[in-house]
Amino acid sequence: MKKIRKNLYQFSQYIPPMDFTIHQYLLNVDPAILFAAGTMQQAAAMLPELKAILGEKPLKYVFVSHMESDEAGGLWLLQKEYPQLTVIAGPITSRELPGYGYTGNIITRRGGEPLKDRDLSLSFLDYPSEVHLQDGLLAYEENSRLLYSADLFLRFGNGVGQVIREDWQSEVARIDDQRVPNEEARKKLQQRLEFLNPAFLAVGHGYCIDCIG
Ligand SMILES: [Fe+2]
Ligand SMILES: [Fe+2]
Repeated sequence: MKKIRKNLYQFSQYIPPMDFTIHQYLLNVDPAILFAAGTMQQAAAMLPELKAILGEKPLKYVFVSHMESDEAGGLWLLQKEYPQLTVIAGPITSRELPGYGYTGNIITRRGGEPLKDRDLSLSFLDYPSEVHLQDGLLAYEENSRLLYSADLFLRFGNGVGQVIREDWQSEVARIDDQRVPNEEARKKLQQRLEFLNPAFLAVGHGYCIDCIG
């Protein structure tokens, strides 16, 4: 675990044969939110560290961008420790969560629908990431200008604790047909992202990004 930014903790696993890193993030504000549950193994490793950071404070939210094991696999373990947990997810993920053993609270959001709770001011963007590249979500926290970007700005390499500096508009332009093969969906996503002004990209894989420009 590494404190990678103010109130932001990164939990990571680097997989050498794939030269690939998987991250989850805790934004420790009031209320606390976790971006991605991690796989079952990752959630098990993360839980003691989460508890050490949060102390008596409960984990209130887990954001699940789309239904894949690195985003949702460990949810049921987190629910065991934090039974009052609420998952925030898009409609497809919300429907599929029970299959991953998660039986707790769910708030379903679509792109453009906000969620405000004390220090958290979240907005969501549609992101064609869900199984079969349907409607997943990205999460943007407006007070910290933090974007949790799931698989979108993925880079290979050992990104544990690493932050690079990049220009935001260039990052948006870099989204190619390998990430979002459907040209129309990709252009729509890029248009939505151009209106954001994030300070920091908390990526699901690779290197976090301090945004310049
Ligand atoms: Fe994914
Ligand atoms: Fe991922």
